[in-house]
Order: sequence, then structure tokens, then C-alpha cells
Amino acid sequence: MNFLDKLVLPQSEHHLILMQYLMIITYMLFLPYMSILTGSLFLSIIYRKLGISGDKKYLRFSKQFIDLVTFNKSLAFGLGIVPFLSLIFSYTQQLHLSGADSATYLLLSLALFIGGVISVYSYKHSVHLSDILAANNDTEDAENYYKKSLNTSNRAGKLAILFLLLSTYIFFGAIQYSADSTIWNSGFFYGVLLNLSGIVSFLQFIILAFAGTYAFYIFMYKDKILSDEYEGKELIQKAIKSGLVFLILLPIFIVLSLLVNPTQSLSTYSFLSAMAAILSILLIGNGFYSMVKSGSVSSISSLIFIFLLVFTLLIVKEQSAFNTGTKAQFAQLNKNYVVYETNLKKDLGLISDASSGVDIYNGRCIACHKFDVKLVGPPYKDVLPKYKDNFDGLVTFILNPVKVNPEFPPMPNQGLKPHEAKAVAEYIISIAAEK
Ligand code: HEC
Repeated sequence: MNFLDKLVLPQSEHHLILMQYLMIITYMLFLPYMSILTGSLFLSIIYRKLGISGDKKYLRFSKQFIDLVTFNKSLAFGLGIVPFLSLIFSYTQQLHLSGADSATYLLLSLALFIGGVISVYSYKHSVHLSDILAANNDTEDAENYYKKSLNTSNRAGKLAILFLLLSTYIFFGAIQYSADSTIWNSGFFYGVLLNLSGIVSFLQFIILAFAGTYAFYIFMYKDKILSDEYEGKELIQKAIKSGLVFLILLPIFIVLSLLVNPTQSLSTYSFLSAMAAILSILLIGNGFYSMVKSGSVSSISSLIFIFLLVFTLLIVKEQSAFNTGTKAQFAQLNKNYVVYETNLKKDLGLISDASSGVDIYNGRCIACHKFDVKLVGPPYKDVLPKYKDNFDGLVTFILNPVKVNPEFPPMPNQGLKPHEAKAVAEYIISIAAEK
């Protein structure tokens, strides 16, 4: 993306590492939100279908599910769009000049995500509306409005699902594409849409979304569920059981994602965090199982924490794969940074030509001079004091050596330009000062 590329700042290796940490934090906001948004939308639509065609009790669950993360509009902004944008900026910075077009693909995914969020909210509103109308549909008019609102919610729900699925599918494709430098030139179709690692991460995300949404649902309505007059006890049992099924599937996909990862981006870190994630999932599974057995949901708060841990571990796994897969790119960016820094210092007058000072010294002087050992020429420690208050004299000598000491042969002219002689003079004085 051209306009994003213009915003790129030169980054040193340390900046890049810092940015990776910030990306992990951004993902920690974004992924749990995104998964519960998708999961609750799916479940709300499923329960709504069940409620309309049969047991009206399900309609209430449908409403509860969609209200899980849509109770406040700024959530979509703060946990969705803002972190999404910051991820796009981070990828643009890190893949600058690499030939990878991640930013374009991620922007496409963001546009679909925004479409998804808008449809989710309009779905939610029509669900609430049709609920009110259903209670008062004694006149023909009201009945018509009720039917209309049902249609609207159906349409908005389908649209939201479509947008969110497409957005996340492209998102995970683009993330995996970014981590694999061998396919940076493959383009959208082969690099993103047909990216095997992307497809596996997408499926893993959907499963995690279902399991996480069930857990979050139980957590949010815990007090209600615990009270005796709660009618949905058997539904909660079902929810816990379905959650358990998804939890059992999850490790399979984590292992699969390690298997399909390009070998060049595998690292000990990603392997270890995958293993830790699987262990934590088994722990949650165990918790779910005892909830089924005991019928009590009081342990759900601690399970939610382990869920967040699973998210974090999976994010760390992906980020270290990204880090390993882009090593060469980071080295290149760091090299560009060194050049940029040197030019900046020159512009600011901090150095005349620092890097060339070192270069000239290493290339032309080191063969005959050391600081404290006599080689072909005298050691610097013997001759530099002479020039202590005579920097120009030193430069003049280096530019145009004259015979000085009969114990030595004359120093050959090194053919330097004035600014080079100045740079190397500065450099030898600086190393002398350090000794
Ligand atoms: C081929 C060997 C050789 C190379 C290369 C060489 N020098 Fe020398 N340099 C000498 C010798 C020999 C002397 C002693 C000359 C004399 O006393 O007349 C000397 C003397 C000097 C002195 C002392 C001058 C004085 O007033 O006593 C300085 C300073 C110096 N060199 C700097 C440099 C720098 C800087 C470079 C690299 C750009 C360099 N030299 C490259 C051989 C060399």
C-alpha cells in the first residue's frame, strides 16, 4: 500500500523487537473480542432458528448470546477496529520493502470486519425489536411488523456471518502469508486465499470462538444460572457439553497448525507455546467436565482466565513463527536503519563521516598502525599527543605525509580526500580517548 508505506519509519532491530511485544498485546485485545463476536453471532442465530420454529425458550438464549459483546458500541471500536488498525500499521512497518503486500490484504479484511460489525448491530436491534413486537402482535398491523422485523433480523444475521467469516478467513490467510517469506510474491489468491496454514488457523479460530463463547456466556450469566428459578438449566448443560466438544477438537488443530507451518518459521518458542496451550486446554476441558458432573458453574471464573492464557499462548506461538520466518527481512531493515542513522548524524553535524572514518581506518591504516604496538609505522600512542591541540596539523599530515622520524620509512600518501582525512583523524583521536 503506497500511502501506508509513506508512514513507515526506519526501525532498528530493538525497535522491531519492541513492536513485536506491542503486537502481542494488541492481539490479546483483538482476538478474544473477535472470537466472541463471531461465536456469539453464530450461536444467537442458531438459537433463534430453534426458537422461531419450536420452543420459544430458545429466543431468550438467542438474545442473551448476541448481547454478550454488543451491549456497548464503543467495544467494537476499542477492541475491534482500533487494534485492527494498529496491527495493520505494525505489519506495514515490519514488512516494509519486502515485497509482501500484507497491508492491502489486511485492509480488505478490515473493511469486511467493519461491514460485519454494522450488520451485527443491526441484527441485534432487529432481534430486540421483533421480541417486543412478538409480545404485542394482537392486531394484523402488529403481526405484519413482527414478520417484517423477523425478515430484517434474518437478513442482517446472514450478512453479518458472511462478512465476519470472510474477514477472518482473509485475516488469518494474510497473517500466515506475512510469516512465510517464501510466498511473499505469490499474490492474493495463492498467498492468502489458498494458504494452508491460513486455513488451519482460521478453523482453529472458529473452534476456539465456539468454545470461548460458551465459556464467556456461562461466565456472564453465572449468577442467573446459579439461582434456583433459572429455567435454562438443561440448556446450560447442553452449552457446557458443546463447549467440551470444541475444546477436545482444539488441540488437534493446534498440532495441525504446527505441521503445516513452513519449516523455516518453526522455532522452539512456537513449539513450546503450542504445547503449553494444549495443556491449558486440557485443564479447561477438565473444568468443563466437572461442571457437567456437578451441575455447578462456580469454577467458570478461573476457567475464563485459563482461556485468556490459551489465547496468549497461541498468539505468542504465531508471533514467534512470524519472527523466525522474517529474520532476513528484519536484518535488512536493521541495515537500512544503520544507514539512515549515519546520514541523520551527518545532517545534524554530529559526525562528519563516522562510518567512513571507521571504514577508512580499517581499510587503510590498520595494516601499518596499531594503538600501542609498533608496526611499519609508529604506534598512535606515541605520535598522537603531539597533535593534541593541533587537529588541523594531524589532518594535514594524513592528507599529505611528510618525513618526520628517521627511525621510520616515510609514510606513503593514502590518497584520501580532505573530508575522509578529517573523518579518520577524528576516529583515531576518539579511540585514543577511549584508551
Ligand atoms: C604503508 C604503511 C602505512 C600506512 C598504510 C599508513 N601509515 Fe601512517 N605512518 C607510516 C609510517 C612509516 C610513519 C612514520 C613516518 C615518519 O615518521 O616519517 C607513519 C606515521 C603516521 C603518523 C605520525 C605522523 C607524525 O607526525 O609523526 C600518523 C598520525 C599516521 N601515520 C596516520 C596514518 C593514518 C590515519 C593512516 C590511514 C589513513 C596511515 N597512517 C596509514 C606508515 C603507514
